[in-house]
Parts: sequence; C-alpha cells; structure tokens
Amino acid sequence: MAKIVRANTNIALIKYWGKADEALKIPTNSSLSMTLDNLYTETSVDYQSELSEDVFYLDGIQQTGKSLERVQKFMDYVRKEYNVKEYALITSYNHVPSAAGLASSASAFAALAKASTLHLNLDDEALSRLARVGSGSASRSVYEGLVEWEKGKDHETSFAKPIPNSDWPELRMVICFVNEEKKKFSSGFAMQETSQKSAYFDAWVKQSHEDIVTAKKAIEEKNLNKLGTVVQENALRMHASLMAVNKWYFEPKTIEIMNIVETLQAEIPVYFTMDAGPNVKILTDEAHVDQLLNHLKEYKTMVCKTGKGLTVYDEL
Ligand code: ADP
Ligand code: DP6
Repeated sequence: MAKIVRANTNIALIKYWGKADEALKIPTNSSLSMTLDNLYTETSVDYQSELSEDVFYLDGIQQTGKSLERVQKFMDYVRKEYNVKEYALITSYNHVPSAAGLASSASAFAALAKASTLHLNLDDEALSRLARVGSGSASRSVYEGLVEWEKGKDHETSFAKPIPNSDWPELRMVICFVNEEKKKFSSGFAMQETSQKSAYFDAWVKQSHEDIVTAKKAIEEKNLNKLGTVVQENALRMHASLMAVNKWYFEPKTIEIMNIVETLQAEIPVYFTMDAGPNVKILTDEAHVDQLLNHLKEYKTMVCKTGKGLTVYDEL
C-alpha cells in the first residue's frame, strides 16, 4: 500500500505575484507565508509497471482534461529529474475547496512532491524546489509556521525555508468563505497578465522587496500591528496591480468584510488579505478572535493556527 502524505495549505502574508521563469515558476519577488493547521491535501502515489500513463483521482473522481494534464506534467518532471521509469496511480483528497483562492494548489503540489519521491528521501530544500515546479506557492507548504520563499535566480537557488525564531503560537488566521466555487480565472493566468501588461507591475515588485523586509522585522519583534499593516497593504498592492489590467477577484461580500475589518481596526489588531479569489483571510491573535467572530456572524468562518509541514503516514 502506498503511504499517504499530508500537506497543509499556506496563505501568503507577502504575496508571490509574477514569474521570471514560467516553466520552472521562478518568481519575480520573494514571498512570506503562514502554513495553516486545518486546511490540507492528502495524496498517495503508487507507481505501477502495468500502467501506460498516470491516472489521477481527486476526491474520488477520476480526472481528465486540464486537472489531469497538470499532474501528468509534474509527474513527467519527476520521472525525468529522478530517473523514475513507471507511471503512477495518484489518489488525492482536498480538505480545502479546490481552485477558490484558498491555496489548494499549494497543499496539492507539496503533498505530490513528497508522495512521488518518498523512495528518494529528499531533503526539505529539494522538496521545496520540486513542489515549486508544480505550483509556486507549494514551495512554502513543505514547512510549518512562518516561511519565506527566497526568489533566487534559477532552479537551484529558488526555494523556501522556515523563518528562524518565528514561533508565534498566538497567531491566528480567520478564513471567511465568501465563495467556494472555482475562481473566475487561474492565479497563473492573472499573474501573467499583470506581469506582461500592468503599468503597476514594476512598482509592485519594487515595493514587495521592501514589504518583505518590514514583515520579517515585525515577526522578529512579534509586533502584530506592524506585521498586519504590511500584510494588508501588500495584498491591496497585489490586487491593485491586477486591477490595472481590468481584472479582479473581489465580490460584494469581499468588500463587506474588508469594511468590517477596517472599522474594527480602530479597536483591535485585525488585518485582511485576499489571494486569487474572493475569499478573505484575517490575520489576528488568539486574544482577539472572539471579538472578531462576533462581527462576522453572518459569514462562514474557520479559525486557523500555524500548522505543521509535511507528514507521512500509512494507510489505515
Ligand atoms: P487555488 O487557489 O485553490 O490554489 P489554483 O488555480 O492555483 O487555485 O490551483 C487549483 C488547481 O490545482 C486545480 O485546478 C487543479 O489543477 C490543481 N489541484 C488542486 N488540488 C489538487 C490535488 N489535490 N492534486 C493535484 N492537483 C490539484
Ligand atoms: C495570490 O502558486 O497558485 O496566492 O505558481 O502559477 O501555480 P502558480 O501560482 P500559485 O499562485 C499563488 C498566488 C497567490 C499569492 C501567494 O500564494 O503567494
């Protein structure tokens, strides 16, 4: 029986938005994230000599089309890179909505990177590089807690690592589910449109270099106000760069929640961030979760702490 790998999703506090190399997913800027504890993917990879192509089941449904092709492309990379000869039966379950801007591709490709190379016992750095080839944000889901993906300049130098001394058990991320359906367009497409056409793209890249320095300093100081302020600004800058090419992910409820958070900011440390989708994530700490939730009663929410990196276990 193939072992199962669990990878948690991560939400970027400083966003990855733009690629210097499309094929290897080398980013134009470094990013920083929080691995979450209860949104995850579980995947097993069973290499079988009798298969003539990879077969992929997601949430019990055999995949075809783009979903299958993306996984096959990744498996082709694994076969070439690590001299694996066989095709595989890949079985995966998402405990996170797929393609809704809740980072399913991050947990998916981190889990797949590990599950497809279990026999090779790769170290975390190599796993992070490999996961990145599947989906950039997946490079960060290899690790627990707060993580930085240094952009690097090529395959060897572009990988994520844990931020030293960043243990912060009181930190919380409250997910507000606005819409769990598949997003209007993929993050890859939106990123490419922004980097190729947005008049604000260069400014985004330049500013994000400064934002990551500010965020790392705030983490070192365990200063939630400082961290939250740059997290919220960075998210708005990312979305501004996209809006400059006439595209957005926001829905009316996204804006409603942003307004609630902004009003609450006069009293408590709460800061929003959004990814390639309409769902809102709110950074706060344990002491302020209840007060925040009191103002979000009409929305579906989930409270997350920092979560673990990859875990491997035998099928029950
Ligand atoms: P998200 O915001 O959920 O990360 P993306 O558009 O970046 O959305 O990625 C979603 C895509 O990732 C899906 O369309 C599918 O191709 C792939 N994906 C999602 N879950 C899995 C999984 N468990 N295993 C392999 N690929 C997956
Ligand atoms: C807005 O990692 O999904 O969530 O590398 O093309 O698969 P690909 O993109 P993906 O993009 C994530 C974009 C983001 C920001 C982030 O997670 O850093």
